[in-house]
Amino acid sequence: MLDFDQKDAPSAEEPALCVLKFGSSVLEREADYAAAAAEVYRHVRAGEKVIAVVSALAGETDALLAQSAAVGGAAPDRLVARLARVGELKSAALMALALARIGVRASALDPDEMKLQAEGEALDADLVSLDAGVIDHALQSHEVVVAPGFCAVHEAHGVVTLGRGGTDLTAVFFAAQTGARRVRLIKDVDGVYAEDPAKNPNAERFAELDYDAAARASSGLIQPKAIEAAKQAGVVIEVAALGAGDATRIAAAPARKAPAHVARPLRVALLGCGAVGAGVLAHLRQRADLFEMNPVLVRNPAKHAAAGVVCTDRLDRALSGGPDLVVEVMGGADEPAHIMSGALQAGAAVVTANKAAVAKHYDSLHAAARASGAALRFSAAVGGGTPILELLEQLADGPGVASAEGVMNGTGNFILSKLGEGAAFDDALAEAQALGFAEADPSADVEGHDAADKLSLVIRAAFGVELAPDAIAKQSLDRVGPEQAQNALARGEIYKQIASCRLAADGSVEACVEVRPVPFDHPLAGARNEENRLVALDRSGRRHALYGKGAGRWPTAAAVFADIMDVQRAFAASAQARLAPPPVLKRA
Ligand code: HSE
Repeated sequence: MLDFDQKDAPSAEEPALCVLKFGSSVLEREADYAAAAAEVYRHVRAGEKVIAVVSALAGETDALLAQSAAVGGAAPDRLVARLARVGELKSAALMALALARIGVRASALDPDEMKLQAEGEALDADLVSLDAGVIDHALQSHEVVVAPGFCAVHEAHGVVTLGRGGTDLTAVFFAAQTGARRVRLIKDVDGVYAEDPAKNPNAERFAELDYDAAARASSGLIQPKAIEAAKQAGVVIEVAALGAGDATRIAAAPARKAPAHVARPLRVALLGCGAVGAGVLAHLRQRADLFEMNPVLVRNPAKHAAAGVVCTDRLDRALSGGPDLVVEVMGGADEPAHIMSGALQAGAAVVTANKAAVAKHYDSLHAAARASGAALRFSAAVGGGTPILELLEQLADGPGVASAEGVMNGTGNFILSKLGEGAAFDDALAEAQALGFAEADPSADVEGHDAADKLSLVIRAAFGVELAPDAIAKQSLDRVGPEQAQNALARGEIYKQIASCRLAADGSVEACVEVRPVPFDHPLAGARNEENRLVALDRSGRRHALYGKGAGRWPTAAAVFADIMDVQRAFAASAQARLAPPPVLKRA
């Protein structure tokens, strides 16, 4: 048993904080919250804390102002402001919900909860103060604070708005007040241009420019008050498109143009369209400007015809035309590994969520990737949307990992949670299957094989050591029934399936998958339903904890899509991307 015995070890160093602003140009419709959440997730999995500042959905503020005029006529501004801010309040709640769906811990805070104070006119106010302590506090137990842009509280008027484009000002102000490392304004263009790129397709984009030049060049793109506030506070603004690597930096720096670079879309083969694959496909289809899809490999094409997806049950068709990227979400171990190896050998990047295939064929897949120089990414294979491998790789590159233990199987944790509520084992398993958490053969979850596959990958990331899943001792979940689970709860304990590993003094790794009760104050005790958690101890004695959703369509698809976007950004920056037809510029 690998007990975690350092509860008082110091917590990890403060992670970097960034402010991301999502304007109405990228929040055009409800489905865009998933894309915005994916962008936030990209920063969270890189270890950053995020303040996400949101505008209303496109057209909503205009509709509210029209409604105000229709109902109230020439009403006092302070009353108009009370209605005009509603679009941002709703948007912040929607953004927090989109993040919750993928398992990112987000706190939505209203302006009064953060004491976000403004002065001046009710419809064109200026921000003056913020209680940054409230945000700090929320970020102790969440990865993200979601804040509505554009509105604040005012001593005399009660509530006020900040003028059109005011969410830019909110974002800059938050960055200045919290000491965030950067503020990124996410727009429907990839930066600030010398001329309007809609009018002149050859317009030059700036890599960097100073505040005054930005104010002149970005009319209609960035609120002038926001640029002035950034200049006064010395805040560096990044202006970027959703998912982009590149940005225009607005700082106290001379103007510099970005090299002209138009990337063609990435050609993608998606293998599998089940619980996870369908979520990945939804993300890919939303970015038709970046991805060109091959027919999707499915078992039964007729089943998908109604959804307007071009499908095939023939692997050769799914892989036709030499795709740049193969996304494998089929399940199984040997066959998908064989396909991925072939794709890597041919120079295609591979992204997969398949822990069984990667754990069993780790060396051959990596050898194929090394030989061709193609990328092989499998973040979703461990933890679903919980970035377990990323944290361990970071620690391995830094202080080194001493031990790690976690809840790494969502189905198992779901079943144990339901047993604690009195459900029968078979009913709990059936529910986990219906929710898309369980493996095709759920005995992989129940017997601990799935957790052992993941633990084998954890051991590679943490220690660079090979320990095959078969060599890891496992206990079955079926040793626990509802009565046992409830008795444990009554005495202050909760059953967990815990996968743990530790580096021994002789350099070997001890590992096991156990099903055992832990006290309520154990760091893994709070994981509910399909949640996953990891607690790692580094070699300097620091404890690092991660929380997320380990199973299910959207958390897993978020992790797969984050890998896909990493591949896309690397591709867009490469010479290969320039070799052919220009991209379709419109988003689907
Ligand atoms: N069956 C797995 C689980 C899916 O429940 O965790 C995600 O790997």
